[in-house]
Amino acid sequence: MLVTKQKVLRRFWYATMPVSHLDAGPQAFTLLGEKLVVWKDGEGRLGAMRDRCCHRTAQLSRGFYDRGNLACGYHGWVYDRTGRCVSIPQQPETAIPSGARVEAFYCEERYGYAWVALEDPLLPVPDVPEGFDANFRRIEQFYEKWHCGALRMMENSFDNAHFSFVHKATFGQFNQPVPSKYELWPTDWGFDSETIVPVNNPPAAVRITGDPSPVTTRHLRNKWFMPFSRVFHATYPTGIQHIIFNCATPIDDHSIQLVQLLFRNDGETDCPTQALIDWDRAIIDEDRAILEATDADAAVDTRRRVEFHMASDKPGLLMRRKLMELFEQHGEAEVHA
Ligand code: FES
Ligand SMILES: [Fe+2]
Repeated sequence: MLVTKQKVLRRFWYATMPVSHLDAGPQAFTLLGEKLVVWKDGEGRLGAMRDRCCHRTAQLSRGFYDRGNLACGYHGWVYDRTGRCVSIPQQPETAIPSGARVEAFYCEERYGYAWVALEDPLLPVPDVPEGFDANFRRIEQFYEKWHCGALRMMENSFDNAHFSFVHKATFGQFNQPVPSKYELWPTDWGFDSETIVPVNNPPAAVRITGDPSPVTTRHLRNKWFMPFSRVFHATYPTGIQHIIFNCATPIDDHSIQLVQLLFRNDGETDCPTQALIDWDRAIIDEDRAILEATDADAAVDTRRRVEFHMASDKPGLLMRRKLMELFEQHGEAEVHA
């Protein structure tokens, strides 16, 4: 699916960068092929605007903060977070023309990230209750660019058939390639799902799962939030919950900004943060290697059954079906899926 061809994708929230990155100054981010500047005003409110000064087109992300507003680094024109030019230093006595503005986008903080929607959002920012629950610690895991399509990453997140192969060096059971079945419940915002997956539990995973046995199970209650966010909600037999919130924020048709936060209902003495980062790093590096070997522009056709495992890949089918419906509802007849 070529994300920049499906205009309705502009009407969703995407996690762009940690808000802490904005302390140093305005930052550049490309979302769905649009070059943005993301910044924070003097009252701590976030702004996202086109990264192009309306004077002589300089990138505002190369500018600086000026008394709580954003100044262009070329001639110092100053903008507020609505994109309006509020100061032209060269002519302080002259009224600022009303056309002196840059396009501003929706921008809010949630889970420590600046979320941006390019057009009127159809759905709220995904709701992850553990992000506000004192019984869970929060671990910033990964923030990095991957060279793969956003839908490929989302499909992979609900694909029980890849564990035996992609993750055979970590938790996958190479000799058990028949995937566990999923139960699915479509929702307004995507779907809820449930599956129980037997997994290998090597020594490096024992503190992660809390389970000393060589094999254990993950009871997964995963959620898909249209279009490119998901929650991986694993409960181990020990009661330990390992909840990953991932966003495959679409930079352009062929790359994503991966955001990964982890929530755990245990403490640092049960499992050190670094062990949690190292274990999930090994796993996502396995995913990344295979996803960067896929084609972002492969056809998505809900009638297609060419992949052998598709009959068991109900989440992938439902994801495609819901996206196709969304595109059709919004009059996007030509679906690059
Ligand atoms: S290009 Fe931005 S102030 Fe001139
Ligand atoms: Fe995976």
